[in-house]
Amino acid sequence: MTFDNGSNAADGAGSAPGGGTILLLGAGRMGGAMLRGWLAQGVPASAISVADPSPAPDLVELSARTGVRLNPADGAAVDTLVVAVKPQMVESAATGVQAMLAPHTLVLSIMAGKTLADLRRLFPAAGSVVRAMPNLPAAVGRGATVAVAEAGCPADRKERAASLLTAVGSLEWLADEALVDAATALSGSGPAYVFYLVECLTRAGVEVGLPADVSERLARATVEGAGALMGATGQPAAELRAGVTSPGGTTAAGLSKLMADDHLQNLLNATLRAAAQRAAELGGTGPKA
Ligand SMILES: NC(=O)c1ccc[n+]([C@@H]2O[C@H](COP(=O)([O-])OP(=O)(O)OC[C@H]3O[C@@H](n4cnc5c(N)ncnc54)[C@H](OP(=O)(O)O)[C@@H]3O)[C@@H](O)[C@H]2O)c1
Repeated sequence: MTFDNGSNAADGAGSAPGGGTILLLGAGRMGGAMLRGWLAQGVPASAISVADPSPAPDLVELSARTGVRLNPADGAAVDTLVVAVKPQMVESAATGVQAMLAPHTLVLSIMAGKTLADLRRLFPAAGSVVRAMPNLPAAVGRGATVAVAEAGCPADRKERAASLLTAVGSLEWLADEALVDAATALSGSGPAYVFYLVECLTRAGVEVGLPADVSERLARATVEGAGALMGATGQPAAELRAGVTSPGGTTAAGLSKLMADDHLQNLLNATLRAAAQRAAELGGTGPKA
């Protein structure tokens, strides 16, 4: 993906995708990953400022090396404010940036559990608000992100949000904010389910006689390889599975247990239901059970 290098930013600053300046509020694990993704995708460093009260040494180094501005004092209005602080920190963090909001400002939040209504209350002077939920593989540019825009958000601002979010992986727009809890249950929590699958495969490998370290390496490599193959081919998972399952073969014998009576399907249904329910309780849009 390439970015528009246009120049509608003020004061000679560079231009972010769709034009304009970006202020990143909070550059920890996720904000830092997004920042690196933008730079890797060609967003000019001169378009980006970072507000973080105690920046990590690698962020200070990155700022010195690239020219990304750290804790700018000028307070000029920004085109996009990306909010990547912990949800419990946002009330205090928001006070410091109110002067940098204008009718042309898009607020793009990745905070878990903060709704569009929360964001509108926190950033009243912003022109538009988008709520996004990335997942952990965004740290390596392979995130699965969902996003929902406030009603009436102009298409060019959604495009700007999309450009910034796809710098760290894939993006699905949701039509209804209520679906964020369901997506959180799937893609937000999903990496942990896959890590657990690797743990289970490792133990099962030991059960059938492999040394523990060999079993662990094989389980990891198998999950990494299967994911990479799915990504490289784009084939549906069911087709890929059928392709490696010879009738009467070893994979068929294994799958006859794994797929019996839809046990795993039912377990995953219950898993996502529990996670979605918890997401709703923690501040999502669903019923507070
Ligand atoms: N990590 C994930 O997998 C993930 C997935 C989806 C969504 N998210 C969301 O992403 C957000 C960030 O998560 P994270 O894991 O990246 O957290 P994190 O590593 O703790 O990053 C938050 C950063 O914000 C900084 N900060 C604290 N107060 C601030 C203030 N007043 N102004 C500016 N910056 C401030 C923190 O600095 P200090 O360290 O000095 O406090 C830290 O560098 C959260 O809202 C989370 O819900 C994370």
